Amino acid sequence: MPHLPALRTLLPHTTIWDAAELATRDPGFDARNFGASALVRPRDTAEVAALVKFCAEHGISLVPQGGRTGLTGAAATVAGQVICDLGAMNRVEEIDPFARTAIVQAGATLGALQEAAGQHGLDPGIDLAARGSATVGGMVSTNAGGILAFRNGTMRHRVLGLEAVLPDGSVFSDLTCVLKTSAGYDLKHLFIGAEGTLGIVTRVVVRLDPLAGASAAALVGVPDAASAQRIVRHFLGSTAARLSAAEILWRRFADAMQRALNYTPGQLPLDAPCLLVLGLGADSVEAAQSLLEEGLADIWEEAGIIDGLVAASQAQAELIWRLREETEQIERMHHLPPSFDVSVPGGALDEYVTRIEAGLKAIDASYAPYVFGHLADGNLHISINTDGPVSHERHEAIEDVLYAGLTQAGGSFSAEHGVGLEKREAYERHADPVKQALARAVKAMIDPGNMMNPGKVVAL
Ligand code: LAC
Ligand code: ZN
Repeated sequence: MPHLPALRTLLPHTTIWDAAELATRDPGFDARNFGASALVRPRDTAEVAALVKFCAEHGISLVPQGGRTGLTGAAATVAGQVICDLGAMNRVEEIDPFARTAIVQAGATLGALQEAAGQHGLDPGIDLAARGSATVGGMVSTNAGGILAFRNGTMRHRVLGLEAVLPDGSVFSDLTCVLKTSAGYDLKHLFIGAEGTLGIVTRVVVRLDPLAGASAAALVGVPDAASAQRIVRHFLGSTAARLSAAEILWRRFADAMQRALNYTPGQLPLDAPCLLVLGLGADSVEAAQSLLEEGLADIWEEAGIIDGLVAASQAQAELIWRLREETEQIERMHHLPPSFDVSVPGGALDEYVTRIEAGLKAIDASYAPYVFGHLADGNLHISINTDGPVSHERHEAIEDVLYAGLTQAGGSFSAEHGVGLEKREAYERHADPVKQALARAVKAMIDPGNMMNPGKVVAL
């Protein structure tokens, strides 16, 4: 890229990699992440602003990247583009234990924030499997949800304020630290879920909650999702128990994971059509275990529970959680299988799964999807048991089965992974046309040159 020497002069102390250097580095989940001509790793907001201004002046489009754990290609790049890597802006700048807020740089990982907050007995109230590498800026940009969303909301509900560099290099600064502000349009929300198409999020104020002293986990075998929902309702109705996770695994997914993780048969009670992973917080591990045991005993018959295990040790809890969280095993098993992320409204999960299983079989008799997800908010992850990518027509046929009626019923064709490139066509086919027109108008107004992560989410 001819601009690199000038960029190096502009940012003499900043890490800059050219395409040759990028080719030797690990692009993360998506090989397309490092297709750009250069990567720049600014150390503060001023450097991001300088980079953005430089790129605006030279007509170079920018793609922000955090932990590169995204699943919809939002961080994919092509030659001629520059990556703005937030990895050097990874500090938890400030924790206010009384106001229960954290000011965090965009490149800080969720795990780093959890650890820093934990030292004050606090927690960001959001959690997901990629906690070790997913960054706060990336989570803001996709409006990440995860395990605790049923209780605490998604990233949008955890963000009190944020700072972002706009496409012209100016800095949008709204580091509000209070919950209540009704001072006109709340524009920070434009950047949450925008996947870097309206600017680059540089700092975030995250709301924190008191951390439960300890937690315990259980694995419960149930006949169907309705039974699992009965169990969850029972725990949510209890004032003593603080339910912190309710994850569901359909058998095909659980069996595949058990094999991939080399669990010995019988190591965990997995012989049921559906498995429910419960997490529960309490003052001590023993108290959390007892609450799980008592709660399950109370609802056992009514919910038709088949089998259940309350983890007796941290090691056993980890075995249970690995079964749910190491989903890259499925990606490896079928080379990048077509994967989907839907929100099913109204708790109609059993009907939904039965319907899509039949619909997928009608497309290809060998299709038998892996289904798992966040039971309590209806967010299911679905991977097809075939190597990806499939043909365009095939992909569309699969989407037609999975997304039929979802938007109309109040659900979503993209629950928590964003739109990126993978869900672009689905967005055009399933999002409300007036909403799409408004989104294009917002994009055109804030980024008239289409310099920020072009081609993702909305097409101008
Ligand atoms: C999960 C990611 C894939 O829930 O969203 O494991
Ligand atoms: Zn998820």
